[in-house]
Amino acid sequence: MSTSVKVKKGLIEKERTEAIIVSRYQDVGKVDGAIAHLNKVLRGRLRTHLRSGEFQGKLNQVSILHINGELPAKRIVLVGLGKKTEVRIDSIRQAMGTVSKAMRLLGVTSFTLAAPEQGIARTTLEITSQAMIEGCLLGLYQFKYYQMSREKSPKPIRGITLLTREENGVGMMRAGAQRACVVAEAVNSVRDLCNHPSNVLTPSALASEARTIAKARGIRCTILDRVKTKKLGMGAYLGVARGSHEPPQFIVLEYTGVPRTANPIVLVGKAVTFDTGGISLKPSENMERMKADMTGGAIVLQTIRAIAKLKLPLNVVGIIPATENMPGGLATKPGDILTSLSGKTIEVLNTDAEGRLILADGLAYAMRYKPAAVIDIATLTGAVFVALGRHAIGVLGNDDALINRVKRIGEFIGERAWQLPLWDEYKEQIKSDVADVRNIGGRGGGTITAAAFLSHFVDDGCPWVHLDIAGTDWGESARPYIPKGPTGIGARLIIELLQDLAGKPL
Ligand code: BES
Ligand code: MN
Ligand code: ZN
Repeated sequence: MSTSVKVKKGLIEKERTEAIIVSRYQDVGKVDGAIAHLNKVLRGRLRTHLRSGEFQGKLNQVSILHINGELPAKRIVLVGLGKKTEVRIDSIRQAMGTVSKAMRLLGVTSFTLAAPEQGIARTTLEITSQAMIEGCLLGLYQFKYYQMSREKSPKPIRGITLLTREENGVGMMRAGAQRACVVAEAVNSVRDLCNHPSNVLTPSALASEARTIAKARGIRCTILDRVKTKKLGMGAYLGVARGSHEPPQFIVLEYTGVPRTANPIVLVGKAVTFDTGGISLKPSENMERMKADMTGGAIVLQTIRAIAKLKLPLNVVGIIPATENMPGGLATKPGDILTSLSGKTIEVLNTDAEGRLILADGLAYAMRYKPAAVIDIATLTGAVFVALGRHAIGVLGNDDALINRVKRIGEFIGERAWQLPLWDEYKEQIKSDVADVRNIGGRGGGTITAAAFLSHFVDDGCPWVHLDIAGTDWGESARPYIPKGPTGIGARLIIELLQDLAGKPL
């Protein structure tokens, strides 16, 4: 069941709702804005509540005041934003995620957010409203698909209202809230796709999801099967698919937001629906997480859906090589040599380094579009977790302007990316004695040598950025608006990057 989101003009003290949510800074003592209006009707009770010291306004702190008929609302819920001097737009997303989850636990099924009078953290009202609604919708995410005893779980939140006193803010806030709904739907759908187990979310299931989305949005969708990809010469991709009985599906989506003469941005997303490692079998501990080794592909798919909904004036192609990586009787073995779509030969020394093999053919296929830029996204290396942990996406590429744009946007929207170097020296590590390249680079710089490998399949002069999300795609514990398990991190980054590119074309 989905949550409906409304933006309206009205007086907070007249609002009939189960809960009024008001956010508050830690270091601003003034009783103003929504608090002042509510406090007046409550004849000072809210001020007394604030003065009690129970609630300091620390980031993500929640405090509830029940109303005894003085207001049409049942309760006022205060949520902390932390210190005003330290506030970031992500603080809003966090606070809203926290308070939304708290409301659901209480059994509240709809609530009203008091809109701030101005944008927070030096942003516009539109950006602030977007962050507020994103925080709620992302925070409320749950995956209950396979749990049949639903009566135990709390009721879903049916409605969220963003209420403002000022008529002139409504338009901006509505635009922000609408964008938030599209973005949150994309992120939550990525999380769903990653949560579904590999026996359900097969390459074929992902392909039919792509077909459904394409049909609903007027996007061109082409799906290449084992026979067609073989004819084209995708030997690297098929080298991974060989070990599995599940039919591989090479998915291509073409969104046209401007006339076809404009070169597209091409997105390439790794979609290994389960990575056993192949013949270089992974250890069994945590192997179940490899059902989410298709996160990059899911992000590309949901990004295409989001930008089609947002009608971005850009052409964007999504390429999603989907397959399992299994140790079947026909599987590629260490030492085998594959001929990729680009014509370059690859010595496979470790079948668990399969992501770069399918991306090699994905990137080579991307080059056929003469892209304005190529962005690939993949759960590619455990090494990126060693280097950056859970809090930064690894970013590498051949175009510093585009990389800096990714970093700037990531910082702003709370999905940070951190650059690792891609110097020529690293290419030495992937030289092969028997083929053009080898698929592993030995000890040291694993994320970088993986990117160095990918760079072989990107034409000179084509701006390219690689995002390694293997550290960020899975959370060990729940955060304010990010659940435990699949996080969907990377989807907002790419959607906002495309939004940025649409405003200021390359
Ligand atoms: N899908 C994995 C990377 C991964 C690891 C994603 C942990 C999420 C969490 C990838 O296919 C892989 O197995 N990479 C190997 C490469 C190595 C063999 C060079 C790795 O990182 O160990
Ligand atoms: Mn692997
Ligand atoms: Zn993998």
